[in-house]
Amino acid sequence: MTDRRYEGKVVLVTGAAAGIGRGVAERLATEGATLALGDVQGDRLEALARDLEAQHGIRALAIRYDAGDADSCRSLVDQTIAAFGKLDVLMNIAGILAWGHFTETDDATWQRLMRINLDGVFYVTRHAMPHLIATKGAIINTSSTSGLTGHPYYVAYGATKGALIMFSKALAVEYVKQGVRVNVICPGAIETEITKDVPHPEGIDNELWHRIFPKAGVSGTSQDMAAAYAYLASEEARYVTGAVLSVDGGMTAG
Ligand SMILES: NC(=O)c1ccc[n+]([C@@H]2O[C@H](COP(=O)([O-])OP(=O)(O)OC[C@H]3O[C@@H](n4cnc5c(N)ncnc54)[C@H](O)[C@@H]3O)[C@@H](O)[C@H]2O)c1
Repeated sequence: MTDRRYEGKVVLVTGAAAGIGRGVAERLATEGATLALGDVQGDRLEALARDLEAQHGIRALAIRYDAGDADSCRSLVDQTIAAFGKLDVLMNIAGILAWGHFTETDDATWQRLMRINLDGVFYVTRHAMPHLIATKGAIINTSSTSGLTGHPYYVAYGATKGALIMFSKALAVEYVKQGVRVNVICPGAIETEITKDVPHPEGIDNELWHRIFPKAGVSGTSQDMAAAYAYLASEEARYVTGAVLSVDGGMTAG
């Protein structure tokens, strides 16, 4: 592991209370980052921030926010700047999952996915961009293998994740001359809580469903993901922008 690669850098991580976001926060703390951590689970986030400060001698600020609310997204960035005075890296990781038969996708589910997975990233990123231009910073967005390839029963979720890929690439080009790098990561099957409260769809075609399972038969971990986020946002990736990085154990390889 590269030592203290993030010393002096302010990194905003959304979705940091659990799963991949938490793994990223823990990894960046070991590398010396100053962390602004955003999540809707305020208490859990606060406990994580205190732990990371105690264990790694860094500064970590827990900010409760709701990705589905524009004002809350704006306030997340404002609180980061008020606390630390600048922003070097934005990692958009917060997201939710819903799956099921396409015709049974109700309006509320569709809109909730769009609001949290897509609108939330738009609001946070738009508000953060002037600060990232000032530092020639970096953005990492979080898509999915469902944004790259057609996953049955994931139509609405896949639509949000597919959109995030083009959102990231277009941003990368628009801001390339201002020195802001934008990349997007597509996790495969990673062991987290994202499926915890999402009931399995009933009456599905198992042959189709199993197509989306990892080829090697094992899932990845939040630590596997954190290594990729930590690389892409670091100086070592200074020539990498507009990239779509799959971290999926070969799920989308063929
Ligand atoms: N786990 C996987 O297999 C996998 C695969 C592909 C993509 N992803 C993506 O990775 C990201 C992280 O997922 P994860 O697996 O770590 O899930 P997770 O459920 O473990 O963590 C997601 C975090 O986002 C937060 N969050 C949810 N709604 C929010 C809201 N409205 N406002 C603020 N925070 C909110 C949750 O509280 C949680 O801490 C998501 O964008 C997800 O779509 C995950």
